[in-house]
Amino acid sequence: MQKQVFIGLLGLGVVGSGVVKMIENHREELSQKLGCDVAVKRVLVRDMNKQRHLAMHSPMLTSNPDDVLNDPEIDIIVEVMGGIDEARHYIRQALQNKKHVVTANKDLIALHGQELLEVANNNRCDLFYEASVGGGIPVLRGLTDGLISDRIQEVMGIINGTTNYILTKMDEDSISFDKALADAQQLGFAEADPTADIEGLDAARKMAILARLAFSTNVELSDVETCGITNISLKDLEYGKQLGYVMKLIGLAKKENESIEISVQPTFFAKEHPLAGVKNEYNAVYIKGEAVGETMFYGPGAGSMPTATAVVSDVMAAVKNMLLEINGKSNLIANLDKKITPADQRFGQYYVRFYVKDKAGVFARLSQLFHDAEISIERIIQRPAGKDHIAEVILVTHETSLKNFQTILQKLAEMDSLESIQSHYRVEGVKKQ
Ligand SMILES: NC(=O)c1ccc[n+]([C@@H]2O[C@H](COP(=O)([O-])OP(=O)(O)OC[C@H]3O[C@@H](n4cnc5c(N)ncnc54)[C@H](OP(=O)(O)O)[C@@H]3O)[C@@H](O)[C@H]2O)c1
Repeated sequence: MQKQVFIGLLGLGVVGSGVVKMIENHREELSQKLGCDVAVKRVLVRDMNKQRHLAMHSPMLTSNPDDVLNDPEIDIIVEVMGGIDEARHYIRQALQNKKHVVTANKDLIALHGQELLEVANNNRCDLFYEASVGGGIPVLRGLTDGLISDRIQEVMGIINGTTNYILTKMDEDSISFDKALADAQQLGFAEADPTADIEGLDAARKMAILARLAFSTNVELSDVETCGITNISLKDLEYGKQLGYVMKLIGLAKKENESIEISVQPTFFAKEHPLAGVKNEYNAVYIKGEAVGETMFYGPGAGSMPTATAVVSDVMAAVKNMLLEINGKSNLIANLDKKITPADQRFGQYYVRFYVKDKAGVFARLSQLFHDAEISIERIIQRPAGKDHIAEVILVTHETSLKNFQTILQKLAEMDSLESIQSHYRVEGVKKQ
């Protein structure tokens, strides 16, 4: 039996440093649990002269990837450098050199996960990526191990800590989006360039990975309809509160009649839904299975040590497989046919806020339009017109198809008396009567 497993790290930043710390601090427990010793042997960095917080024996550091990828003593490569092209190239090289790979790189797995899993399988190597979704929350293993026996119907996730922090602050402290973003940047919850977070792209990448595993289907990033949070106003959050809702950026993946819908969009949640209580930078993934019913995975979605927990657990899974000589057998390749649900088959409730001229017959006309579009209204708030004779209307529909909702938006926009449609959002989690 192998008594020593060496790891090669690509990257020594936030996550890489956490991985080194964890392997050093937990070394005895890891060894007890695995029956063999695990140690980091070489570490690839970009800048050899950088001041580092971590005391590291300098011969371990290198800026030459071949020192790590071609070292015959290294069995497992941990890629925590980020980026797409170089990371993809190094992972391919590692797998072709028969090294198992653990990565935290959601950008890469969302775009090239299937291809890399095929390379891993062809080389009988493991490729694990638990940390790519939900940081320290073991949600991918939840899907591929704990819930593997069930038919997954729906996955809904708050999977971007930055946007959840911003929305929580806007909601609880009534501060603007810009102020909440600046606070998040100051506290280190948002990057200097927050585009990928606030435009929903980071969440979309994670949803592609989750949906692939939940439905064994090759969901691609382009299949995820994506909308960010930059246009959310305090006014909408205020009306949401009056209606008993809280706003979240939600990744939704749903399977019905063998067809899948996947999106990332700001969504109003009924306060009683478990996802409504997930605040600040925390993440949660709610999974509904045909047999199990509702489950939820909750925890820190990022950060050095939480993310290192997932990475090191993946390393341990690869080591266990090495000891059992079964590497490369648990990589799940999504191979079912993909059918994306059309708009007339997607059902949900919707919130819409608009301004209309307050004149005779307008409300009768509105009611006729909704009737013609076969949409019934669950809630309505009408703010009386002021001196400008413009009234503000907030409506929540009963469940309807996305197509019907798109039709009513079009019809509203064509109405003579319409001033503007301010916003519209999906509504989730309202208990059916
Ligand atoms: N941060 C989190 O909480 C978190 C959570 C989940 C997943 N992730 C994912 O984990 C990965 C790493 O994130 P991070 O926050 O740890 O990043 P980071 O702090 O920016 O660290 C990146 C590390 O990789 C090295 N590096 C980058 N490009 C390189 C290159 N071309 N050649 C050699 N070394 C290179 C850097 O070297 P230098 O030190 O010399 O600059 C640095 O040590 C990303 O894929 C990220 O999406 C992060």
